Amino acid sequence: MSDRIFLSSPHMGGSERRYVEQAFTDNYIAPVGPHIPAFEQEFEAAIGRGHCVAVASGTAALHLALRLAGVGPGDEVLCSDLTFIASASPILYQGARPIFVDADPATWNMDLEALEAHLAARRRAGRPMPRALMLVHLYGQPCDMDAVGAICAEYGLTLVEDAAESLGALHAGRQTGTFAPTAVFSFNGNKIITCGGGGMFVAQDKDVADKARFLATQARDAAPHYQHSELGYNYRMSNLLAAVGRGQLEVLAARVEAKRALFAGYRERLGAEPWIEFMPEVPTGRANRWLTCAQLGHDAESGYRLREAVRLALEAENIESRPVWKPMHMQPVFADAPFVGSGADETLFARGLCLPSDTKMTEADLDRVCDVVRRTGREQAR
Ligand SMILES: Cc1ncc(COP(=O)(O)O)c(C=O)c1O
Repeated sequence: MSDRIFLSSPHMGGSERRYVEQAFTDNYIAPVGPHIPAFEQEFEAAIGRGHCVAVASGTAALHLALRLAGVGPGDEVLCSDLTFIASASPILYQGARPIFVDADPATWNMDLEALEAHLAARRRAGRPMPRALMLVHLYGQPCDMDAVGAICAEYGLTLVEDAAESLGALHAGRQTGTFAPTAVFSFNGNKIITCGGGGMFVAQDKDVADKARFLATQARDAAPHYQHSELGYNYRMSNLLAAVGRGQLEVLAARVEAKRALFAGYRERLGAEPWIEFMPEVPTGRANRWLTCAQLGHDAESGYRLREAVRLALEAENIESRPVWKPMHMQPVFADAPFVGSGADETLFARGLCLPSDTKMTEADLDRVCDVVRRTGREQAR
């Protein structure tokens, strides 16, 4: 059996080991240590603006963002529907209620027309506005932040950017995750760079970042003994993981180019097949192409059959692929949550497949994957 080709696995750059060894030398095998502030500062420099707090996961960062946005019991939060559950679960951690907004097939990101129509209808009906908007840059596709910003200003929504998948993706030349008052990134093992798990909370206001750091450190008051005036969390990143993150940051630009080259390689090999349609890139920004995604077939039914046939054929050849995220409004855990839109993302889910996007893949690996996809697609399309 040939070696397994992964969807997106950790790809070390070389310096990570040196930084980790430094942590061992210093015996900073702890949730404190010099790599943490260094990683935060280097990350700030990489994204260009904002104050950063390194935390245990992207999910933890999202929880902090919602808490600091003042989201609490009974509040409503608008949320991208086509996403991983971590965008939505912190809304429930805060005792608030999600309203899921459909995706636009032209971008795969939130359908801004559906969003605006919902908000306008609420205004006409004299209903109160939701507290916040949780916006996802899906698979590294940058949202149109000018349009989103205008909607948030018009309706008084506090914006949180879930940039977990979009490090290195730009809107109008500027890093996603630097437009909203708060944003998050993830360093999960499958992300464009990884710490082996971890996340970054980003605030444009330094006081907000300081408050996040405080809450993430059990909300410990400034006293020699342990004193707590409010409830916090154990959400800080460890020094060891920050050491890995520092090494990874050094190769971020190379990883973005490698991801984009993989996407281009897929499109070159398969783009002429009539049964495959690659995820478009928005004209307003530059995607990081974290995962190369495509829709198969021509409609939900034929697309679903082809997507599963291709996925299983790849698996039989020891190649990992994955259906596009199952929309949140289709998840049993959110069965009661309201949904805004026509259900366009149900079709994206039925037809959508994430192809192996591992930056360690060679041209031969890409050929191997594309041969299976082409063979299966042509067989099924006959
Ligand atoms: C869109 C999105 N949001 C949030 C997260 C959560 O990040 P983490 O796994 O670091 O908690 C992820 C990835 O895992 C994600 O893809």
